[in-house]
Amino acid sequence: MPAEILPTHTPTLSATAVARTVSVLRSGGVVAVPTETVYGLAANAFSASAVEAIYVAKGRPAHNPVIVHVASAALARECCAAWTPLADRLAARFWPGPLTLVLPRSERIPDVVTAGGPTVGIRWPSHPFMQAVIRECGFPLAAPSANPSDRLSPTCAEHVAQGLGERIPLIVDGGQCAVGIESTVVDVTGPFPRILRPGVITAAQVADAAGPDTRESTAAPAAPTGGGPLRSPGQLTRHYSPRARLRVLDWADDSDLARQIATELSGGRPVHILTHTRIPSAERFPNVSFIPDDPEAFARAFYGYLHDCDARGAALIVVESLPPGDEWDGIRDRLRRASAG
Ligand code: TXA
Ligand code: MG
Repeated sequence: MPAEILPTHTPTLSATAVARTVSVLRSGGVVAVPTETVYGLAANAFSASAVEAIYVAKGRPAHNPVIVHVASAALARECCAAWTPLADRLAARFWPGPLTLVLPRSERIPDVVTAGGPTVGIRWPSHPFMQAVIRECGFPLAAPSANPSDRLSPTCAEHVAQGLGERIPLIVDGGQCAVGIESTVVDVTGPFPRILRPGVITAAQVADAAGPDTRESTAAPAAPTGGGPLRSPGQLTRHYSPRARLRVLDWADDSDLARQIATELSGGRPVHILTHTRIPSAERFPNVSFIPDDPEAFARAFYGYLHDCDARGAALIVVESLPPGDEWDGIRDRLRRASAG
């Protein structure tokens, strides 16, 4: 049976959706819920069996830990064994919001959440629906993105329904996600913040909030470590991927673009092009979309665009290469992963 979809666009509908969601979560079930970054597939983070149901629904590998969502500083502290001054500074600046802090886990967090590792990723989302549900539940919510493992993250309820609609009972429709890509993940277990996954909160903003004594170490993303639980999803080479092949290209003019496309794809198969500065001619390239040259607008629209290309049967997606600057790092990272392999 396909998932039931509950709307939230009036106060009454929202209250009903909160009550239904809380009731499913309290009985150990999973619910797809809106957050400001991407939709999440939520379960009680203190219950190993509830979190196992997330892994089953997603087909997620057991070595990939899930993020735990809280709605207060007190609940965040219940999830970790040690709360560091660095965590305090970053939480004060960016919570609630699209930032995940990696800290030593407390004994309340089961192994399945952390993939057996010693740390837990914690986030206080700003989305009012998530906050209402977490407060009402009284327990934190483990929630990875609500998509089958290795596919694109969903930024609206329709994306969730397409990917997981036959595998979960309930989807809450909170509209389009305002941020559009997953949170920035920062390891704060040591004296310096280490960016494990870039997002819309930039390395420079993290360094600024962390303070001058910790500044120089935020620049380089953490190197992947072999074996054990993943420290960040970057170690899954192909991740956040559309079904179509994706290439990031730069081109001089339409003929140059056509030539580059021809080396990627045999003639006649559908090519979709995403630009932010150049507009190729509509006669030669019928499927061109434009997202303004602004990292926030780009992040908000990007996954929706890729979902759309897949739905329309694109064989190749060409994305115009991005400008320099760390405000583009989150999108650059997702493009790199989507174009791997
Ligand atoms: O914006 C987001 O973070 C969304 C929404 C739903 O909150 N969630 C999300 O979760 O993107 P997920 O599970 O798709 O990605 C979480 C990533 C994992 O791939 C994992 O590698 C990293 O965060 N992560 C989670 N816990 C970690 C930990 N203890 N140490 C290092 N990385 C961790
Ligand atoms: Mg994910």
